Amino acid sequence: MQELKVTPLPGACGAEIGGIDLARPLADATIDAIRVAFVEHHVLFFRKQHLDPAQQVAFGARFGELEDYPFVAPLPEHPKVIPVIKEPDENDNFGGGWHTDLIYRPVPPLGTMLYAVEVPRRGGDTLFADGVKAWEALSPGMQRMLEGLKVEYNVRHIAQDRIERGRSGQASRSMPARRDDDVSNGSPVHPLVRTHPESGRRGLYFSREHTIRFAEMTPRESRPLLDWIQSHLTQPEFVTRLHWEAGTLTFWDNRCLNHRALNDYQGERRHMHRITIAGDVPRSSHSLI
Ligand code: SIN
Repeated sequence: MQELKVTPLPGACGAEIGGIDLARPLADATIDAIRVAFVEHHVLFFRKQHLDPAQQVAFGARFGELEDYPFVAPLPEHPKVIPVIKEPDENDNFGGGWHTDLIYRPVPPLGTMLYAVEVPRRGGDTLFADGVKAWEALSPGMQRMLEGLKVEYNVRHIAQDRIERGRSGQASRSMPARRDDDVSNGSPVHPLVRTHPESGRRGLYFSREHTIRFAEMTPRESRPLLDWIQSHLTQPEFVTRLHWEAGTLTFWDNRCLNHRALNDYQGERRHMHRITIAGDVPRSSHSLI
């Protein structure tokens, strides 16, 4: 078993994991120790790794089944790996708004692993906002008001925008689209306050850019409170910032975090490989697994 060195970061969440080479076969006990750190810190950073897509897939699969991503064509020989690329002459970046991955699925993913192949000399950091910290900071009265609410999600408007940008030649050349109507057709409803299935801690489970409305309310009625939750969740007190180096692998917990990729490196290239790990149905309270 490799001896892990877990160094918590000074921000709201996150720990750097040292003393491990992810390209080597890992003992079950090492995976268990990583899982413990993941549940405690919500996002883990592994520096100076050398992972090809097959090795990233092998590591990710130790934490659960890997899922397809609906809107970006995967690497030709690795159907579970999508490239996340911004070329020097492209303007838009992928994941540039605060969000939780694939919350618009009835069973959203447990986590995402992103590996940095090439990074800009400066910029291109990723921010993570901690839903547990944000929830715990609310007053009892606000918690009581929010805890029964359910939110309706959909990705149609974002998918449509991507299709239209493709038609007008503005979509990313380096991330060819793939259509998946199954995903864009449903509008699942998830609790706003989710009990983490492994830690039992409660947190805000939310993704503003995929949100339509609160269940049984109109979009217009929902908007002010949705916007307030978003501004509360993304306050600096609840945010950790990751600076990437080539060879950094990050593993984040979609069940309790929002994230956003900064788009501040115009004229430089950023190239990552991403995989998604399947999760469970979000519940406001349930027994631990
Ligand atoms: C994403 O939202 O998956 C992309 C994050 C990043 O590129 O930093």
